[in-house]
Amino acid sequence: MRPDDDLPAMLAHAWTLLVRGGADRKSPVHTPVIASVDEHGLPHARVMVLRKADPAAATLRLHTDARSPKVAQLNGMPVAVLAYLPAEQVQLRITGTARILTDDEVVEDIWNQSTLFARRCYLAEHPPGTPLPGPSTGLPAWIEGQQPTAEQIGPARANFATLWIEVTAIDWLHLANSGHRRAVFRSTNDWAGEWVAP
Ligand SMILES: Cc1cc2nc3c(=O)[nH]c(=O)nc-3n(C[C@H](O)[C@H](O)[C@H](O)COP(=O)(O)O)c2cc1C
Repeated sequence: MRPDDDLPAMLAHAWTLLVRGGADRKSPVHTPVIASVDEHGLPHARVMVLRKADPAAATLRLHTDARSPKVAQLNGMPVAVLAYLPAEQVQLRITGTARILTDDEVVEDIWNQSTLFARRCYLAEHPPGTPLPGPSTGLPAWIEGQQPTAEQIGPARANFATLWIEVTAIDWLHLANSGHRRAVFRSTNDWAGEWVAP
């Protein structure tokens, strides 16, 4: 039996990759593609930073600007997450339900624990996607090239949103010279998993 012939071990492996992706900037899983569909049925895909993966809760956490179009698109909607690890030749395709949280205690803690530099982008004057008269970072001129103080960052809090993905399925594909392997795990099946054709 090959090491990747064990369904529970592959599910655990997928979560190990996701947890590492949340913690390790160098992991390709740190910047997955998050795909969603808008109210017109049009697909949208964008790279986002995976902040944390929680295997026990089967959730992924990401951060975004509360004013961005995707916040309105995503809340309560199906979402897909895509990551590929070239070194391991593993593709993870995840589906789930998106939840936007902006103002509970957990979000407050996350905000307070972020660095001032990380929080600075939420000082942007206009919602992401707003047309601008010329090239610009979107930040107010007074904060360009500087780290904001705790006082200056205060107003940015209103623009901070957390995106939680409640994972409902993980499609794990391993490419190997000895033969590919693919398995799909679903919450509806109590994560038991099944082999599918690669
Ligand atoms: C490496 C990388 C990391 C990014 N991380 C985030 C992120 O964590 N949150 C976010 O909202 N946008 C992030 N973006 C920007 C998005 O890809 C996207 O351009 C922006 O959020 C606007 O998307 P929307 O129009 O779908 O709302 C990142 C882009 C790159 C290239």
